[in-house]
Amino acid sequence: MLRRILLAASRSARTRQLVTSARYTRDVVARYVAGHSAAEAAEVTRRLLDDGLLVTLDHLGEDTLHAGQAAAVTREYTGLVTRLAAAGLAWGGRAEVSVKPTAVGLGLAEHGEKTAAENIARICAAARDAGTTVTIDMEDHSTVEPTLRILGDLRGEFPDLGCVLQSSLRRTADDCAALAVPGSRVRLCKGAYAAPDGVAFPARREVDRSYARCLRLLMTGPGYPMIATHDPRLIRMTPVLAGLAGREPGSYEYQMLYGVRPAEQRRLARAGGQVRVYLPYGSDWYSYLVRRLAERPANLAFFLRSLASRG
Ligand code: FDA
Repeated sequence: MLRRILLAASRSARTRQLVTSARYTRDVVARYVAGHSAAEAAEVTRRLLDDGLLVTLDHLGEDTLHAGQAAAVTREYTGLVTRLAAAGLAWGGRAEVSVKPTAVGLGLAEHGEKTAAENIARICAAARDAGTTVTIDMEDHSTVEPTLRILGDLRGEFPDLGCVLQSSLRRTADDCAALAVPGSRVRLCKGAYAAPDGVAFPARREVDRSYARCLRLLMTGPGYPMIATHDPRLIRMTPVLAGLAGREPGSYEYQMLYGVRPAEQRRLARAGGQVRVYLPYGSDWYSYLVRRLAERPANLAFFLRSLASRG
């Protein structure tokens, strides 16, 4: 229930205004977000790479409503990968980028899917020139079909284009089976968006069980699984399933969010695992931050204080 309220708040303009102007906000934002600019994000990227971690950068923002704004977000990404390459951070995919389809046009009233596909193709071309890759984030359940269509259309030209699947959705085991093909890069997460019971599993237990089932499908397939979770049980399960599937440690990677379980990220990397940190940056952090708070009710005090005290 609390999670649903917070997820609704992540889309509320009024709550956004209250929280973004609150004085308590800055410290919490700094924990989860790498700064406002690409230059600041590149600096944090360098530190994470120096610590033996890999990185995927996300320019914050979603639900773009104008084609001009979608084009601007696309330019931000192409500029970002060029910057990462110039700084020697991108080669071999050490730092790659994650893109939300609605940030580059999927939700436009006209030609949204076409616009998003063209913009993602531009980002993929720049990433290829920079020696790195792109992963398409997965958003609200209503975007799954068009997002997977875009992936399918672009993989011919960009075979290393990755995507995200959400174990909270009932369809996802089938999607994992369909995407368990050579060269396929699939990031498996639980899912951060509310969805009706007919579409998603209502109980966390079921979402976790679905995650384990999907992880097994991806591990036994010929693709490159990206295990995006902070859940200790699923993390412990990962090398066991990889071993049963006869996989080497370099044939899959763990992924975690910047600011969440950082000690565990480094422990896994020191133990020889490949660990990629999802690193958001930019000023449009509100929806991202509230989704993080929804995952951790202990952070609710921050949210309530923000609403009660502005300035
Ligand atoms: P769960 O929420 O059950 O948490 C397990 C444990 O992790 C908690 O008990 C706690 O210890 C710790 N933890 C989790 N969240 C925390 C937080 N915010 N602060 C502090 N501790 C926390 N979702 C989506 O819908 N589309 C997407 O494209 C992506 N992309 C993505 C990339 C990467 C790299 C990650 C790690 C996650 C995503 N997600 C996502 C988000 C994902 O769907 C999910 O909401 C979060 O990862 C939280 O789920 P967990 O699997 O960590 O489990």
